[in-house]
Amino acid sequence: MTQPHPAERIVVLTGAGISRESGLETFRDADGLWSRHDINDVCTPEGFQRDPMLVSRFYNGRRAELAHVEPNAAHRALAYLEQAARDGRWDGEILIVTQNIDDLHERAGSRNVVHMHGELRRLRCMSCGATPEWLDDYLPQTPCPACHRPTLRPDIVWFGEIPMHMERIQAALAACDRFVTIGTSGTVYPAAGFIAEVRDHADTLDINLEAPAIPALFDRTLVGPATRMVPQWVAETLGS
Ligand code: APR
Repeated sequence: MTQPHPAERIVVLTGAGISRESGLETFRDADGLWSRHDINDVCTPEGFQRDPMLVSRFYNGRRAELAHVEPNAAHRALAYLEQAARDGRWDGEILIVTQNIDDLHERAGSRNVVHMHGELRRLRCMSCGATPEWLDDYLPQTPCPACHRPTLRPDIVWFGEIPMHMERIQAALAACDRFVTIGTSGTVYPAAGFIAEVRDHADTLDINLEAPAIPALFDRTLVGPATRMVPQWVAETLGS
């Protein structure tokens, strides 16, 4: 006997664009992070080997920014949709798969959130595997709170490394009825390949300031700022 499932299972893939209006930079926009920082230096294991101090400073700076920003209307709208499911006002299920390492989805109230590229507010010990929550700066010589060895690194997925939670993500993609991308350039794999995986069984929607590079990949696109388009889409989904 199969378990009854909600009428609508939605997977939402978010990228840096959803946090732009909260004041966090994107990567590839004209004034984005990668216009000022070299990916090879701060976002690869090789770069970390070469200069762990440079890498720790880069992520310390981004972690410190989190204290000065708040979730925006787009984050809040997604949390509202999840709450509607919990309250029984909506016969659906939403899973947020985010490429973002900020904590704005959780601070907006979303619980079903998977960080496939890691989290800024976590470090990882390369000796004992501990992943302590971390709010302040850290330095390469900072000892791990569990094993006391100076082998901490950001708990972030760098280029050339395998993203986190892929089994859960793949299962959700296989079962979803609707797939929505918000504020992502769709240029980094494996996230950029999810659309091809779901197109045969799910309705697909892209929400972005710009039209997608290949509009034909999506059944529908909503072009505009996330803080305007996401609440609009959530209201539509709730039929209000
Ligand atoms: N509302 C909606 N979309 C926006 C907004 C906004 N206010 N501002 C920018 N965007 C869109 C841009 O048009 C662009 O398509 O957000 C996207 C940001 O793209 P990227 O900077 O490439 O960010 P992202 O897709 O999240 O990058 C993927 O690349 O560098 C790695 O690991 C990093 O997770 C990241 C991954």
